[in-house]
Amino acid sequence: MFYRTTDDHGLRFNPFKALVAPRPIGCISTESADGAANLAPYSFFNGVSDSPPMVMFCPNGTHVEGGAKDTLANIHATGEFVCNLSNWALRDEMNVTSSSTARGVDEFELAGLETEPAELVAVPRVKASPAHLECRHFQTITLPSTKAEGTNNMVIGEVVGVHISDAVIKDGLIDMAALRPIARLGYFDYTVVNEVFAMHRPGKADPDAAQTLVKT
Ligand SMILES: Cc1cc2nc3c(=O)[nH]c(=O)nc-3n(C[C@H](O)[C@H](O)[C@H](O)COP(=O)(O)O)c2cc1C
Repeated sequence: MFYRTTDDHGLRFNPFKALVAPRPIGCISTESADGAANLAPYSFFNGVSDSPPMVMFCPNGTHVEGGAKDTLANIHATGEFVCNLSNWALRDEMNVTSSSTARGVDEFELAGLETEPAELVAVPRVKASPAHLECRHFQTITLPSTKAEGTNNMVIGEVVGVHISDAVIKDGLIDMAALRPIARLGYFDYTVVNEVFAMHRPGKADPDAAQTLVKT
């Protein structure tokens, strides 16, 4: 089949997000200008460069009370955020933090997640998360929106500090079998990393930097 995105696709649900998948999930923690903590998951999320390391995520649409989502408003107010990586063990809590709540509700509390201070930014992080990327806001790009209200935004941040739980480091590599990251598919579906395979790029064999097949 083929459809123009300006026409009806004819399927039961829009297939776009099921095709650009799996998408990693960054649980973005922020603080408002007056110090209220906020946490929400974003799966339009990824790394975009590595020297310096930069990430992007996309707060799209509006907050349930109107205006920008809390995450976007807070980043524009303070210039800082933390990406708390989501894994299998934290899947239910991650889901709770996506609740459409009134402004000012602390989703750490809502999901029963303990906080831990960051090193370089004044934003709390999720203590139970296996890895955290401390970020300073670099730029927000306003994207086009076909919806009547709200905008789509790409927030780009520079990663200035990285925390990794010792439990997910093995022989100097990130141990995916221990990390078990989850990712978003389409609809209400998710996936979890249970298998890893290695391939060397032509002419770039480096046996020390390869993980062999892992099955959990
Ligand atoms: C797994 C998952 C991924 C999500 N990804 C996005 C996303 O990429 N962009 C977005 O705008 N909302 C996304 N959401 C919805 C937000 O988490 C939700 O709107 C949240 O209430 C925003 O909170 P905030 O106002 O505190 O920023 C996602 C929800 C879930 C459960």
